Amino acid sequence: MSKVSIRDLDLAGKRVLLRLDLNVPMDSGRVLDDTRVRAAAPTIRYALEQGASVVVCSHLGRPKGERNPAFDLTPAAVRLARTLRMNVRMAPDCIGDITTQMSGELQPGEVMVLQNLRFHEEEEENDDDFAAQLADLADVYVNDAFGAAHRAHASTHAVARMMPAAGGLLLDREIAALDPIRNGEAGKLGFICGGAKVSDKLELLERLSEISDVIAIGGAMANTFLLARGLSTGSSLLEQNMVEAANEITAIAQSEHCDLLIPSDCVIARGADEPPRARPLVFDEEELPEDWQILDVGPATVEMFSEAVKDCDTIVWNGPLGLFEREAFSGGTRAMAEALAKLEHATTVICGGETAAAVAQFRLTNKMSHVSTGGGAALEYLQGLELPGIAVLPDANNEQDGQ
Ligand code: 3PG
Repeated sequence: MSKVSIRDLDLAGKRVLLRLDLNVPMDSGRVLDDTRVRAAAPTIRYALEQGASVVVCSHLGRPKGERNPAFDLTPAAVRLARTLRMNVRMAPDCIGDITTQMSGELQPGEVMVLQNLRFHEEEEENDDDFAAQLADLADVYVNDAFGAAHRAHASTHAVARMMPAAGGLLLDREIAALDPIRNGEAGKLGFICGGAKVSDKLELLERLSEISDVIAIGGAMANTFLLARGLSTGSSLLEQNMVEAANEITAIAQSEHCDLLIPSDCVIARGADEPPRARPLVFDEEELPEDWQILDVGPATVEMFSEAVKDCDTIVWNGPLGLFEREAFSGGTRAMAEALAKLEHATTVICGGETAAAVAQFRLTNKMSHVSTGGGAALEYLQGLELPGIAVLPDANNEQDGQ
C-alpha cells in the first residue's frame, strides 16, 4: 500500500516538521560518517523549493531521557548546514517556549534543527502530550527517518496522527529499493549474510531462505553454521545455543531449493591483535587448534560466493564477512564488495550500518544500486514486518483533508 508522499502536499508558506534519522556515528563531537545527513538533503531542498520552512527533528544515540552532552545534535546540525550550504538554526531543546518562539519566527526558505528528541523520555514512550508539543511547531509532518521507522516513538508515530502527514523522498527511495525483495519480486535473489550473531538475524534468514536462490553466510555467524556441520571452530566467536537454529535454516533452504553456502577457507589468528594466518579450513584432516579464532573468510570462499551470486538479478548484502575494521581481517569483506561492484547488470542492495560503513571504507558506495540508511529498520522491513513509522502514515488513496 503506498503512502502519501511529500510530493502530494501543498507546502507553500507551510512549516514542515521533518523527522530525520540523524543518528550518525560520532566521536567526541565529530561526525564520523555523514551518510544519513547527505541522504536527508533532497527532502529538505524539495520542501524549501516549494516555499516551506523546515523544522528538523531527530534522535541521536540512547540518552534515555537525560540531557547528556555526549548526545548533543549540534554537530549533526552543523554538518547538515554544510551539506545544504546554508545557515541552519539550532534550537536549545525540541519543545518549550524558546523552541516554539524560534519555530514561529521561521521564514519560508529557512531551516532549524531541534535538540535531541531522546533528551525527553516521553519520546520513546510515544507520549501524546509530548507529540502534541512537537505538532505545535509546524503545519505539516513529514517522516523521512527510514532508519527509525521500526520505532513507535512520539516523533515517528503519535505525531503523525495529529497533523497532515506524509513520507519524505528518502522514505520513498528506501521503500522502492526494498519492496521488490520484501515481496519476493526481485528475480533471482542472492543474499550475502554476515555479522556476528545468528540470533540477531534468525527471522531474516528464515524469511530470505524461502525467497532467495542463494544464501552465502560469512562473518562470525558462519562459525555457528560450521559448528552445526561438525567442523572445528577453535576459540572463534559463535553461539552454541544457535546450532539447532542453524540446522533449521539449512533445512528450510534445502526444502526451498536455496543454495546455502558457508565458508570453505578462512583467515585465522590467536586473537584480533595477533598476526593472521590464512589457511584453508580442512577440518577433517586438520583440527583448528583450540586457541585460534576465525576472523575473516578466505579468498576461495569469496570466489565461491561471487560465482554463486553472479547470475542473480538482485543481491542483498547485510553484515561484514570478517573483522573488517582491522586491515588484517578486512580482505574478505573488501573482495566481496569489489566483486559486487563489478556486477553491472545486477541490482545490489547494501543493508545495515556496518556493511554500509565497510563499502564506504573501500570507496565503493557509488558502485552499489542502493545503500540503505536503515539498520534494524531495513532488516525488519525485509522480513516483511510492518514498521510503525510507515504504517501510521496515511494511505495514498485516502489523503487527509486540509492539505
Ligand atoms: C539506527 O541507527 O538503527 C536508528 O537510528 C535507530 O536507533 P535505535 O536503535 O537507537 O532506536
